[in-house]
Amino acid sequence: GRGKETAERGMRPAGVPACLGCHGRQDRSRFYPSLAGQPERYITAQLGLFRAGKRGGTRFGHLMANAAKGLTDDDIRALAAYFSLSAAPSATGTR
Ligand code: HEC
Repeated sequence: GRGKETAERGMRPAGVPACLGCHGRQDRSRFYPSLAGQPERYITAQLGLFRAGKRGGTRFGHLMANAAKGLTDDDIRALAAYFSLSAAPSATGTR
Protein backbone atom coordinates (compact mmCIF):
# COMPACT_ATOMS: atom_id res chain seq x y z
CA GLY A 1 0.00 0.00 0.00
CA ARG A 2 0.82 3.64 -0.05
CA GLY A 3 2.15 3.83 3.51
CA LYS A 4 4.56 1.00 2.89
CA GLU A 5 5.79 2.53 -0.35
CA THR A 6 6.40 5.89 1.21
CA ALA A 7 8.15 4.28 4.16
CA GLU A 8 10.41 2.28 1.90
CA ARG A 9 10.98 4.65 -0.98
CA GLY A 10 9.74 8.09 -0.03
CA MET A 11 7.99 10.38 -2.47
CA ARG A 12 10.49 12.13 -4.64
CA PRO A 13 8.27 14.85 -6.15
CA ALA A 14 7.13 16.00 -2.71
CA GLY A 15 10.64 15.81 -1.32
CA VAL A 16 9.70 13.16 1.23
CA PRO A 17 12.60 10.86 2.09
CA ALA A 18 12.20 7.13 2.74
CA CYS A 19 11.20 6.88 6.40
CA LEU A 20 12.95 3.57 6.81
CA GLY A 21 16.20 5.11 5.68
CA CYS A 22 16.41 6.54 9.20
CA HIS A 23 13.82 4.60 11.17
CA GLY A 24 14.34 1.15 9.73
CA ARG A 25 18.00 0.36 10.00
CA GLN A 26 19.13 -2.11 12.61
CA ASP A 27 22.28 -0.09 13.09
CA ARG A 28 20.43 3.20 13.17
CA SER A 29 21.48 5.98 15.43
CA ARG A 30 19.83 5.83 18.83
CA PHE A 31 18.37 9.23 18.05
CA TYR A 32 16.10 7.65 15.44
CA PRO A 33 13.18 6.10 17.31
CA SER A 34 11.64 2.85 16.11
CA LEU A 35 8.14 3.41 14.74
CA ALA A 36 7.01 -0.17 14.35
CA GLY A 37 4.02 -0.97 16.49
CA GLN A 38 3.57 2.53 17.88
CA PRO A 39 -0.09 3.55 18.21
CA GLU A 40 -1.61 4.94 15.04
CA ARG A 41 -2.97 8.00 16.80
CA TYR A 42 0.39 8.80 18.32
CA ILE A 43 2.19 8.58 14.98
CA THR A 44 -0.47 10.73 13.30
CA ALA A 45 -0.20 13.37 16.01
CA GLN A 46 3.59 13.47 15.93
CA LEU A 47 3.73 13.80 12.15
CA GLY A 48 1.23 16.63 12.31
CA LEU A 49 3.38 18.41 14.88
CA PHE A 50 6.59 17.91 12.92
CA ARG A 51 4.92 19.14 9.75
CA ALA A 52 3.71 22.23 11.57
CA GLY A 53 7.17 22.72 13.07
CA LYS A 54 5.65 22.44 16.53
CA ARG A 55 7.40 19.42 17.93
CA GLY A 56 10.63 20.53 19.48
CA GLY A 57 12.22 17.21 20.35
CA THR A 58 15.92 16.74 20.24
CA ARG A 59 18.51 18.56 18.21
CA PHE A 60 17.69 16.03 15.50
CA GLY A 61 14.11 17.21 15.28
CA HIS A 62 14.80 19.32 12.22
CA LEU A 63 15.48 16.11 10.28
CA MET A 64 11.89 15.12 10.88
CA ALA A 65 10.42 18.55 10.25
CA ASN A 66 12.11 18.33 6.89
CA ALA A 67 10.85 14.80 6.21
CA ALA A 68 7.28 15.67 7.22
CA LYS A 69 6.81 18.95 5.42
CA GLY A 70 5.86 17.35 2.09
CA LEU A 71 3.27 14.99 3.60
CA THR A 72 -0.44 15.42 3.02
CA ASP A 73 -3.05 14.40 5.59
CA ASP A 74 -3.69 11.29 3.51
CA ASP A 75 0.00 10.42 3.50
CA ILE A 76 0.12 10.78 7.26
CA ARG A 77 -2.87 8.51 7.70
CA ALA A 78 -1.36 5.88 5.40
CA LEU A 79 2.00 6.01 7.15
CA ALA A 80 0.51 5.88 10.64
CA ALA A 81 -1.55 2.84 9.64
CA TYR A 82 1.46 1.14 8.10
CA PHE A 83 3.80 1.65 11.03
CA SER A 84 1.24 0.91 13.73
CA LEU A 85 0.45 -2.43 12.09
CA SER A 86 4.07 -3.39 11.61
CA ALA A 87 5.43 -5.94 14.01
CA ALA A 88 8.44 -4.51 15.75
CA PRO A 89 11.31 -6.50 14.18
CA SER A 90 10.02 -6.75 10.62
CA ALA A 91 9.08 -3.11 10.38
CA THR A 92 12.52 -2.09 11.44
CA GLY A 93 13.66 -3.84 8.30
CA THR A 94 16.36 -6.34 7.62
CA ARG A 95 18.42 -4.18 5.34
C1 HEC B 1 16.80 11.93 8.10
C2 HEC B 1 16.32 10.93 9.05
C3 HEC B 1 14.82 10.73 9.19
C4 HEC B 1 13.91 10.46 8.18
C5 HEC B 1 14.18 10.31 6.69
C6 HEC B 1 12.64 10.30 8.83
N1 HEC B 1 12.76 10.48 10.18
FE1 HEC B 1 11.24 10.33 11.57
N2 HEC B 1 12.55 10.89 13.05
C7 HEC B 1 13.90 11.16 12.87
C8 HEC B 1 14.45 11.62 14.13
C9 HEC B 1 15.90 12.04 14.37
C10 HEC B 1 13.39 11.61 15.07
C11 HEC B 1 13.44 12.05 16.55
C12 HEC B 1 13.28 13.55 16.54
C13 HEC B 1 13.18 14.14 17.89
O1 HEC B 1 12.59 13.53 18.79
O2 HEC B 1 13.65 15.25 18.04
C14 HEC B 1 12.21 11.13 14.37
C15 HEC B 1 10.97 10.97 14.96
C16 HEC B 1 9.85 10.49 14.31
C17 HEC B 1 8.56 10.24 14.93
C18 HEC B 1 8.24 10.39 16.39
C19 HEC B 1 8.54 9.06 17.05
C20 HEC B 1 8.43 9.04 18.55
O3 HEC B 1 8.70 7.97 19.12
O4 HEC B 1 8.08 10.06 19.14
C21 HEC B 1 7.71 9.79 13.96
C22 HEC B 1 6.26 9.38 14.12
C23 HEC B 1 8.48 9.77 12.72
N3 HEC B 1 9.75 10.18 12.95
C24 HEC B 1 7.97 9.37 11.49
C25 HEC B 1 8.65 9.42 10.27
C26 HEC B 1 8.04 9.15 8.98
C27 HEC B 1 6.60 8.70 8.77
C28 HEC B 1 9.01 9.36 8.05
C29 HEC B 1 8.87 9.26 6.52
C30 HEC B 1 7.95 10.21 5.92
C31 HEC B 1 10.23 9.74 8.76
N4 HEC B 1 9.96 9.77 10.10
C32 HEC B 1 11.45 10.01 8.15
C33 HEC B 1 14.62 11.00 11.70
C34 HEC B 1 14.08 10.76 10.44
